Amino acid sequence: MDSKKFTDLNTSPRILLGPGPSMVPSRVLRAMATPLIGHLDPEFITIMKEVQELLRYVFQTGNDVTFPVSGTGSAAMEASMANFIEPGDAVLIAVNGYFGERLCDMAGRYGAEVHRIDRPWGEVFTPAEIEEALAQRRYKLLGVVHAETSTGALQPEIGAIAEAAHKHGALLVLDTVTSLGGVPVQIDAWGVDVAYSGTQKALSCPPGLSPLTVGPRAQEVLHQRKTKVANWYLDLTLVEKYWGDERTYHHTAPISMNYALREALRIIAEEGLENRFARHRAHAEMLWAGLEALGLPPLVESAYRLPTLTTPQLPAGLDEVAIRQKLLAEYNIEIAGGFGPLKGKVWRIGLMGFSSRRENVVLLLSALRELLG
Ligand SMILES: Cc1ncc(COP(=O)(O)O)c(C=O)c1O
Repeated sequence: MDSKKFTDLNTSPRILLGPGPSMVPSRVLRAMATPLIGHLDPEFITIMKEVQELLRYVFQTGNDVTFPVSGTGSAAMEASMANFIEPGDAVLIAVNGYFGERLCDMAGRYGAEVHRIDRPWGEVFTPAEIEEALAQRRYKLLGVVHAETSTGALQPEIGAIAEAAHKHGALLVLDTVTSLGGVPVQIDAWGVDVAYSGTQKALSCPPGLSPLTVGPRAQEVLHQRKTKVANWYLDLTLVEKYWGDERTYHHTAPISMNYALREALRIIAEEGLENRFARHRAHAEMLWAGLEALGLPPLVESAYRLPTLTTPQLPAGLDEVAIRQKLLAEYNIEIAGGFGPLKGKVWRIGLMGFSSRRENVVLLLSALRELLG
């Protein structure tokens, strides 16, 4: 083995304005370099409790069962399906983008009879149409994506949707991967039963953990299961003993990632949620105005536009891949293309967490102006 061929890691100073990961403050990176302690060390148990308390703050919930699942956003997403579905249960998923599709896929793998309500990519649902679908039969669970990263749409009226779900005996599972920490997510006030997120978007922490919160209704469903959860690693009846009072070994928590998340959440608490939401909105509005001026109007109607992720429409015939490649090579700026039905039609520009800064908007808009001629 010629070890010399493996040089020192030396990545370019990228400005991350894609759909995630977002940029990470140096405080968070420094926290990751904190020496390891054991995952059952009393000092680590204190850190776990602090992470939980800070997560309750960002989720705006009093739910006891609130902790970061080990794994990226998809881990808590899968936990949200695996734990509340038993084979043969009927579930309803609202699909208006790629992540709604993924929820259907996951639910099906746990034996659910998957029913869906669809909206074109870029649009959102009304509580009335969701309620109409819920009234068709008895559903165990309703899955909704709060912030569709594939389209840039923000689903409004989650409180009314939760009310409809409960009226018809279903739990509401909410995907907040691209909303948590960037736009209001009010788990208790809205009555959401289960919500999950990821660390690498508006929380501005590296990918690797997925915050999850589980309310009392969902806890009851979990504890009344007749069958074992079909996924050992994500089985909340086991994992909650590690994150709950018992603190018994389940798996080795990713220690350094928990250090990072604690620091990222501490930064959010220092900024304050309201200030943080206002900052995300102000920079998004600046971006939207700049994109309009460049002839790249956002796809999503302004009332449902997601401040953390914008999807400008591209003129026909534009070599959008070449422009993204130049943005990366010449300006060190990462943005992403559209996919699925939006492939080649939109870009996906993220202004999340630490990336949501005025100077980043100015730089991106000027770079685009140059590249678009
Ligand atoms: C809305 C949404 N849900 C779920 C996920 C899955 O998260 P991860 O890629 O961290 O596993 C993502 C990731 O982009 C997402 O945007």
